[in-house]
Amino acid sequence: MNFFATTAKGLEEVLAAELTTFGARKVVPANGGVNFSGPPRDGYRACLWLRTANRVLQPITSFPCPSQEALYEGVYALNWEDLLTPRMTLAVDANVRDSALTHSRFAALKTKDAIVDKIRDRCGQRPNVDPKDPDMRINLHLSRNHCTISLDLAGTGLHRRGYRRDPTIAPLKETLAAGLVALTGWDQKTHFVDPMCGSGSLPLEAALLASNVAPGLLSPNFGFQRWPDFDASAWQELLEEAEEARKTLPANLIFGSDRDQRAVDLARRNAENSGIGTQVRWFYSDFSKLEPPADHGTLICNPPYGERIGEEVELEAFYRKIGDTLKQNWKGWTAWVFTGNLALAKRVGLKPSRRIVLFNGPIECRLLKYELY
Ligand SMILES: C[S@@+](CC[C@H](N)C(=O)[O-])C[C@H]1O[C@@H](n2cnc3c(N)ncnc32)[C@H](O)[C@@H]1O
Repeated sequence: MNFFATTAKGLEEVLAAELTTFGARKVVPANGGVNFSGPPRDGYRACLWLRTANRVLQPITSFPCPSQEALYEGVYALNWEDLLTPRMTLAVDANVRDSALTHSRFAALKTKDAIVDKIRDRCGQRPNVDPKDPDMRINLHLSRNHCTISLDLAGTGLHRRGYRRDPTIAPLKETLAAGLVALTGWDQKTHFVDPMCGSGSLPLEAALLASNVAPGLLSPNFGFQRWPDFDASAWQELLEEAEEARKTLPANLIFGSDRDQRAVDLARRNAENSGIGTQVRWFYSDFSKLEPPADHGTLICNPPYGERIGEEVELEAFYRKIGDTLKQNWKGWTAWVFTGNLALAKRVGLKPSRRIVLFNGPIECRLLKYELY
């Protein structure tokens, strides 16, 4: 069976490494995702274990699609009655680019019509649409008049780990945070510090990684569990395997701090929601006053990068201060700064030893590495 796991642009190699680690076959990175193959349970395993995937798709058909008629016919041709019963609900997501059909909502609507018509023709009844919590989410990808229809195994974005229940100011997507942690190459033995932790995504993803918690265990409620072909015993085995794989996280290994008390409180609540609350240490401190917990380790921060006019001058001074603090207080550490403002990144004033290009949604970002000798 072939699968395609999607991820943020720039994290494809990280995701490919995750897939290779759990034994997926034919792992081939592409733009914005990774192809892989394996038995159906590898799809379940991907939803349970992947830290950097946003969705796991299972392509079921692919055809030339120069018109709305071709789309309708191509979708109708599938035996949908084998995949969906009239009692189930469905939703269609569509991405359309460089094609004769230009509107993704229209393409999604045509696809939905073809599916419900086919099931009604075969079963006498049609399934309903539920855009929020469908039993089956279907993905349509139309590029250069070529259409691929896939089933979305999880049915929801895998970044929704379930530990972040309150909305905050500019949190990172959990899957992107996990990717950043992976890119630092942190050894999981030395200290890990985020001095501007906000809602805590980076320390929490580091904690989940180091305690070998499968992220899907935090909210194991996926679309495929409601499908007619769901293999409940394979899923149960995977869940038990994942429970057994959990490790105890050493105390005082991972730290998060922020100068905003509300952010620290929120990060603490999120840690409790994730079940690893007691193992991560949270502090309320300005970065310039924070004391390193050891003479070496990994520091990562995602400083504000300002979208409003007028903030630029203030932020320039702030980024200079980040550079000064790193140089003076964090000697012996490896520091990483993740920012979406390339001009501000230069104000850090230290020479990065690596620059990694990543996308936070549509924003081109940099993850910059500084060796602080
Ligand atoms: C973009 S947010 C970080 C978001 C975080 N990565 C998350 O996923 O929730 C930037 C954070 O830096 C904090 N911050 C700004 N200036 C700071 C300073 N001087 N010392 C410590 N934290 C600071 C802000 O309070 C804010 O929570």
